[in-house]
Amino acid sequence: MLHIVDHVNRDLYRAQIEQHFRIRHDIYVKTRGWKALERSDGREIDEFDTIEAVYLLAIEDDGRVIGGSRLVPTVYPHLLSEVFPHLASVAGVQRGPDIVEWTRYFVVPERRGGGGASDLGGIVAAGVYEYCLNEGYRTMTAIFETYWLTRLLEYGWRIQPLGLPELIDGNWTIAAAIAIDRDGLDAVRDVWSIHGPVLQYHDRHVPFARQIAGNLAKVAGGAGAA
Ligand code: COA
Repeated sequence: MLHIVDHVNRDLYRAQIEQHFRIRHDIYVKTRGWKALERSDGREIDEFDTIEAVYLLAIEDDGRVIGGSRLVPTVYPHLLSEVFPHLASVAGVQRGPDIVEWTRYFVVPERRGGGGASDLGGIVAAGVYEYCLNEGYRTMTAIFETYWLTRLLEYGWRIQPLGLPELIDGNWTIAAAIAIDRDGLDAVRDVWSIHGPVLQYHDRHVPFARQIAGNLAKVAGGAGAA
């Protein structure tokens, strides 16, 4: 199962969040060579690892993190809006309460396929999609190497490029919007032979759409009282 780590329960996962920052440093800086993310403390953290970021983490029984992803609501500053808006030069940066950005999709090297994609990679991708659907998101935006366009299309997802590919750090990279709907969830589960939910919810979870609605109601209530 994938654990949902959000602003409500992050205190319970402090050790795993730390571990995952170090894994990200190993993967993205040391292996992939994304030098802009290098930090002397060996943790890969950027300005989008805020309290609003949600992490989906695959955690073994002994507490070891083996895979994960990050989701940032696009109503807040995010990678596409702040760093790579030029990748959305055709359709524009997609933002709104029903749009979320997906970044930092990883599986630790020792749990990858080794001659084909791993089941765990499929579980993390399916979990990301399941999360988005459950939260009321209608679109997920992402920045990825063009290689991933074919793979994500094979998951059965509807994907719309937002701009033209650009060469970034030696890799052709594109921004795209991925439609979130029930068909997309069924399709990715079919591809990976996943027969049900892969997410583990915590008791205090409040879906993002309800949080936003609650905040709007508070604002409206406040305005009325003034
Ligand atoms: N470009 C070209 N080929 C790639 C690739 C890329 N960016 N990413 C993976 N592949 C290939 C692998 O070389 C492997 O080929 P093989 O079957 O011939 O050995 C195949 O795709 C399966 O890759 P694998 O990594 O084993 O798949 P997985 O489903 O287990 O894991 C990831 C997928 C993305 C989770 C994992 O590759 C990973 O953690 N990568 C590092 C982080 C990353 O780049 N994330 C994506 C951008 S955020």
